[in-house]
Amino acid sequence: MASFMEWLSRYLNVARKQAFEVGLTGLPQSHTPATMKTNVIICGFGHYVPERILTNADLEKIVETSDEWITSRTGIKQRHIVADDQAASDMACKAAQKALAQAGMRADELTHIICGTFTPDSIVPSTACRIQEKLGICGQMCMDVSAACSGFLYAMQTARGYLMLEPDARILVVTSEVISRRVNWEDRTTCVLFGDASGAVVLSNGEKGEGPHVVDIALGADGTLGDLLTVNGGGSAWAYRKGQTVGDEFFVQMKGREIFKHAVRNMCAMADKVLADNALTKDDVDVLIPHQANWRIIDAVGRKFEIPEEKVYSNVARYGNTSAASVPLALSEAVDSGFVKKGNLVLMPTFGGGFTWGAGLIRF
Ligand code: ACO
Repeated sequence: MASFMEWLSRYLNVARKQAFEVGLTGLPQSHTPATMKTNVIICGFGHYVPERILTNADLEKIVETSDEWITSRTGIKQRHIVADDQAASDMACKAAQKALAQAGMRADELTHIICGTFTPDSIVPSTACRIQEKLGICGQMCMDVSAACSGFLYAMQTARGYLMLEPDARILVVTSEVISRRVNWEDRTTCVLFGDASGAVVLSNGEKGEGPHVVDIALGADGTLGDLLTVNGGGSAWAYRKGQTVGDEFFVQMKGREIFKHAVRNMCAMADKVLADNALTKDDVDVLIPHQANWRIIDAVGRKFEIPEEKVYSNVARYGNTSAASVPLALSEAVDSGFVKKGNLVLMPTFGGGFTWGAGLIRF
């Protein structure tokens, strides 16, 4: 018993020290203390994009823009948009079913559902509860995680925590975004950038070599920069009266240039950190799968890490920015197409509203 208490006290001191460690961005960053790393295996990947496609040419008929402006600034050529009767949970179910099939697992074998989204079906119930209902299962712990475009890594890290507490857990981490219902289709500075999609993984504890495993995840945020990217309407700080029409605050509003600067800086800093924390360098990285905000951000991060373009996975031309769904969607496609190979180390830096940021490493 005494030795357990000593171990616990030692562990808590290490955890406390590391939780408040000042990271490369000059702010405290969260990461997994070395003493608490588990072997989290990704048993299955899945993704779903809705059928309807909106091209840059279609957008030229909606707002004053051009294919040339959108392509040269962002690399985006088209995006997918949900059908009228589809919500975030509907897309999430399709992505989840694919991930479960790849994992060879039934939905009722899951123990937790964690959904990352900034466009939930509703404020209550959570999208995770809706997903559970639509998967036809009951009893699992269900929760949503709100970290905008960093939602996938935040949800993954939450899942890793549960896997330490409950080693037999089998967790669905799914992200799903219906951004088309939260952009102002009269605002050309935002509506050209986003698309709808979902991505999913199924996680469990396992032995190294049993499948792709999560090497580490590092996360951070700076709430003082929150006003640079907002969807305020519908929140409790914004009073609405019955019958009142929604204003611009109901939709995505952002300062694009500021975001660009912070995104590149923090994605690179977090990638540096997660590599250093694991005694790795940029030379160890085989594949880069960053948050797919726009090609210029992806390219800037790739150049900083000297990763040749052919090792950078990007689907932003086809889907636009799908926020929390972008990394798992890209991961799932990269697995399906064989872009990622056994033994590869995949680096996933991310950045989003909040501001939130992070970087994850997966060894295939
Ligand atoms: N079509 C044509 N012209 C446009 C459009 C458009 N869709 N949007 C803006 N413009 C105009 C502006 O009105 C402005 O005109 P003006 O000079 O006459 O005033 C001009 O283009 C330049 O506008 P800027 O905003 O300065 O354009 P910039 O070169 O910065 O590119 C962009 C804008 C692409 C948004 C860039 O700032 C960027 O990539 N930022 C990152 C933002 C981002 O990715 N946000 C997503 C959410 S956060 C995340 O996922 C990380």
